[in-house]
Amino acid sequence: MTDVARRPPHPPPTAPTPAIAPASYVDGFRSLEDETRIEELSLEGKLPEWLRGSLIRTGPAKWEVGAQQMRHWFDGFAMLHRFGFEAGKVSYASRFLETRAYRAAKQNGEITYSEFATDPCRSLFSRIFSVFSPKISDNANVNLVKLGERYISMTETPIPVEFDGETLETAGVAYETPGLLTTAHPHLDRATGGMLNYAAKVGPRNRYRFFHVPPDEVAEPRVIGELPVKEPAYMHSFGLTERWLVLAEFPLVVNPISIPLSGRPYIENYRWKPELGTRFTLIDRKTGMATGPFETDPFFCFHHVNAYEENGEVVVDACTYENAQIVEDLYLDRLREGKPAGRAEMRRFRIDLGTREVTSEQLAEGLELPRINYGRNNERPYRYAWGVDDESGWFDRIVKVDTQERNAIEWHEDGCSPGEPVFVAAPDSDSEDAGVLLSVVFDARSGNSFMLVLDAAELSELARAEAPHHIPYGFHGQFLS
Ligand SMILES: [Fe+2]
Repeated sequence: MTDVARRPPHPPPTAPTPAIAPASYVDGFRSLEDETRIEELSLEGKLPEWLRGSLIRTGPAKWEVGAQQMRHWFDGFAMLHRFGFEAGKVSYASRFLETRAYRAAKQNGEITYSEFATDPCRSLFSRIFSVFSPKISDNANVNLVKLGERYISMTETPIPVEFDGETLETAGVAYETPGLLTTAHPHLDRATGGMLNYAAKVGPRNRYRFFHVPPDEVAEPRVIGELPVKEPAYMHSFGLTERWLVLAEFPLVVNPISIPLSGRPYIENYRWKPELGTRFTLIDRKTGMATGPFETDPFFCFHHVNAYEENGEVVVDACTYENAQIVEDLYLDRLREGKPAGRAEMRRFRIDLGTREVTSEQLAEGLELPRINYGRNNERPYRYAWGVDDESGWFDRIVKVDTQERNAIEWHEDGCSPGEPVFVAAPDSDSEDAGVLLSVVFDARSGNSFMLVLDAAELSELARAEAPHHIPYGFHGQFLS
């Protein structure tokens, strides 16, 4: 097995081949071992004076343990990254999340907990044993939230991990999720300052559970409602309107009791059943009562963009794929070999509550890792979405979609692969797109990453701050002022 973690970013040519291997975006999939703390990064350009706070991100950083390698991009051990913005300067710190999965791997010298597509349980005995003592990973590498005063990193298992926002030190389990399979994309509940999420409770009778977590120091989730389900769908996020929690069940489904004994890692137990179509269900946020399902053609998606109610319709925007092939595309070996990953399009679905019909239209040819002006526009009609897109098989541009005019503008630079662009609203402005975007960009030319600061309206560059090394491609983060 190639030790990718130790491979230099630009290997020297070996004689007699004169050509130097071209720098490539795939170098952003190398593992990162270093934990870093730098007071001031070198900065080009000028930050807005109002930009004060921290962008904290989580993402996979290390895929190798001894001679073993995780199988999927989603499987790598979580590292937290914090870019601090203060007085026109940018600081940077990174630290591995000291989860039990990470600690066990370090201690044992092997992968010990099951991840999204990596399962270390090889023997039938250990498999049966794990039914009674499941080794559920707490590798919270997908997203994070600030709930009240607490910083919480999350993945799709029921173990959210609390950490210190200043030192990035791991603190422990944040709360008990009322189900086994959940999302790392909770929504803010504006009325309480708490958050809303769902989890699939599996057992003799499977059901989706919708729950609220208050912003208190000791957060006890409260189940708002339940929906029975025979085969739960893989859902990475959900939508929220002022009245409804919007569940989109794609036909990538699982019979949960098959998971422990199947011999396959978690996600490989799911089956694509396009004959089921996609089913939207609306759950009343106050009463927990479900309305639906509203059926439409099969599609797959990781990310909802936004949802709202308008003229008797529920409008749901999402980054969609024709099927679940994208899950296959993101296996690590494929990505490191430079094989292209599928491209998501941005689609708008309209659920007519009267006729029960669902219609849809394309809003943009390409959009993934979407962000909006969340504080102002989530649950409500909106105009702009930002995200990444590609024409090369991997994210190579930042886009701003105008959902009203149905057009998009973009930022692109040769050799650069941007991550999720996090929108930070300018204070004291009524404009939806007044603010900046913060994106960690891998630069194949230098082999390192930089923090890119764009004007969110024009996508013009305001500043960039160079990190001392590459930052492996991650998923999500939040700006916290
Ligand atoms: Fe996500």
